[in-house]
Amino acid sequence: MKKFIVAGNWKMNKTSQEADAFLKSLLEKLKPKAARELLLFPSFLSLPTFQSALAKSFVQYGGQNCYFANMGAFTGEVSPTMLKAVGATHCLVGHSERRTLFGETNLDTAKKIQALQETGLTPVLCVGETESERTNNTTLAVIEKQLIEGLSQSDFSKPLILAYEPVWAIGTGKVATAENIREVHAFIHQFCEQKYKIQLPILYGGSVNAKNCRELEAVEYVNGFLIGGASLDPESLLTIYGG
Ligand code: PGA
Repeated sequence: MKKFIVAGNWKMNKTSQEADAFLKSLLEKLKPKAARELLLFPSFLSLPTFQSALAKSFVQYGGQNCYFANMGAFTGEVSPTMLKAVGATHCLVGHSERRTLFGETNLDTAKKIQALQETGLTPVLCVGETESERTNNTTLAVIEKQLIEGLSQSDFSKPLILAYEPVWAIGTGKVATAENIREVHAFIHQFCEQKYKIQLPILYGGSVNAKNCRELEAVEYVNGFLIGGASLDPESLLTIYGG
């Protein structure tokens, strides 16, 4: 049975001291569940805190971004090798904030996925349409392009996760309807089966919280969540994880 993945994206929140306090309170109550995985994406600076606090835990963690070279003159960047060295197992790629605020392109996401897979880390490729793309009925075309270009260097024999995050639902409190989500997840699922002959886990992200998570979890082809705001509080993360 495939596990349901509960992933928290902390974005630019929490110092390493705050991360430490969060993990202490999370671990006091957290009990592993056979059918669920828990994964957190803190700031780079909190990764060493995660490494020591989670040494004996089943909770996995990763970077929110990386560069596609493993070393060199790339001021301000962090490589997959550096992430691996602090025990990271995953890395987000192409989050909509990276795309819109920092100009990350589909080509960049393709190179990052390749570098991460070569280093033995699992990329989580984020795709999703803006509000105007949805209004113009180009949602599926936008996502198809993000997938074709973003996955162009991927090795499908290695682990890879996708996350559908409608940009208009991120941090806005506007949750996509179950039907919106089902339509896009089914599209991504079928696209990957037909084009790559593979079934990849597809997370949903965008204003997931402790109140709406059970309803969203029941949507067909939703294999997990990528949670921003609601992952910052241990109690709400525990509720979404299910214990
Ligand atoms: P949100 O963020 O849950 O705060 O909407 C989701 C994300 O950006 O991954």
